[in-house]
Amino acid sequence: MPTQSMEQLVSLCKRRGFIFQTNEIYGGLQGVYDYGPLGVELKENLKKAWWTAMVYSRDDVEGLDASILTNKKVLKYSGHEDTFTDPLVDCKDCKNRMRADHIKDSKCLHCGSTNLTEPRPFNLMFRTNIGPVSDDDSYAYLRPETAQQIFTNFKNVVDSTSKSIPFGIAQIGKAFRNEITPRNFIFRVREFEQMELEFFVKKGEDEDWHKYWIKERINWWVQQGVEKDKIKVLNVPQEELSHYSKATIDLMYEFPHGVEELEGIANRTDFDLGSHSKNQEDLDITADVLKNKDSNARLAVQNIDSKKWEVPYVIEPSAGVDRGVLAILNESYKEETLENGKNRVVLALKPHLSPIKAAVIPIKKNDSTIVDFSKKIKDNLQKLGLGRVVLENTGNIGKSYRKHDEIGTPICITIDFETLEDSTVTVRDRDSMEQKRVKVETLDNLMRNLLVK
Ligand code: GAP
Repeated sequence: MPTQSMEQLVSLCKRRGFIFQTNEIYGGLQGVYDYGPLGVELKENLKKAWWTAMVYSRDDVEGLDASILTNKKVLKYSGHEDTFTDPLVDCKDCKNRMRADHIKDSKCLHCGSTNLTEPRPFNLMFRTNIGPVSDDDSYAYLRPETAQQIFTNFKNVVDSTSKSIPFGIAQIGKAFRNEITPRNFIFRVREFEQMELEFFVKKGEDEDWHKYWIKERINWWVQQGVEKDKIKVLNVPQEELSHYSKATIDLMYEFPHGVEELEGIANRTDFDLGSHSKNQEDLDITADVLKNKDSNARLAVQNIDSKKWEVPYVIEPSAGVDRGVLAILNESYKEETLENGKNRVVLALKPHLSPIKAAVIPIKKNDSTIVDFSKKIKDNLQKLGLGRVVLENTGNIGKSYRKHDEIGTPICITIDFETLEDSTVTVRDRDSMEQKRVKVETLDNLMRNLLVK
């Protein structure tokens, strides 16, 4: 399937209500987007698919929904205050600011000048004040990754669930980064969502678990409709690894603007729990951690045989929700020329991701018997709890089909005069455009077959 241009996707998103530039009526806010009526459904469906695979279908993972506001000590001991930076360069001529690793031939990306400053580290974290007094000590951070709140809740989760390693804690939620140059639509933004699993394992078993999660995660993306060939596995070079990582695999996807990271799967060793733990000196921590004088919890598990307290290693699959949405849109967007020479745009989404699962269309807009019958069918299908079903009462069947092709609705159900006589409806399939006549009472099963796998 060909990769679409970013313009095609941006245009569809705006036209049909998937994604809008935030605060557009005031000129926007750079690197921040809003999800519209269809976007919120698509995004929720993607997150639901992740949660089902990572939490519900396993007995070795628990969920968490922790806060965004983060105590500064967390991000001190995690290393973010010192190292969560990008190299910033200023153009002395046009004052443009850019990331040093994004420029080519030492030239300003805006005006082409070579009159640039030396790169200097720019911390990506957003700071905010807590409470009514604003002084140097009263600040907190908006979390730059969801992971840290998982590590600081490690003991709470272990104590309340009696989990023993190997086990994981999963979380989906917002993260914030003051990116120097947000760009490429929702690819690189300042406010985004992550789906992160921190999977705690025994030291020595970490490399096998790392391989396991790489395979699992590729399979999951394929189940969401991403073509396997479009995912490249990049072994991140040693010199580019984050401060906490022993090895990281990036799943690189062919986005419309180029091949870039969709998800990272890192072996974070015992760095995180070791960093946030008290009594570090008693724990044989292998990673190079800051001496922790503030934590009141020992983030370790007891080895049943040796009775020694050991800090688990962490394998972390970390995916961006927004990048996921962009990849899914890119995979499913198609422009087709039909036999009659007309063009159609179709979003061939996997049904579980479709914002609307079925559209019920009365053939006549103003015929109350037909409209009432249609409403009844809509209500019944909605009650199945399989996702959103809409009544599409425009009176224009062709236009309704085109709209629902374009927003990825897998089936349209048309109610006509025949329906009133023999309780049959026309079901049109989005991908094949085939229409078949079925009994109303078979619609429940039809929907279930479409959506329950
Ligand atoms: N906890 C590990 C971590 O945060 P990361 O590689 O910095 O690792 C993980 O981020 C994922 O989050 C990335 O693979 C990407 O999908 C998403 N992500 C990171 N920065 C982003 C940004 N500025 N805009 C959108 N998504 C982003």
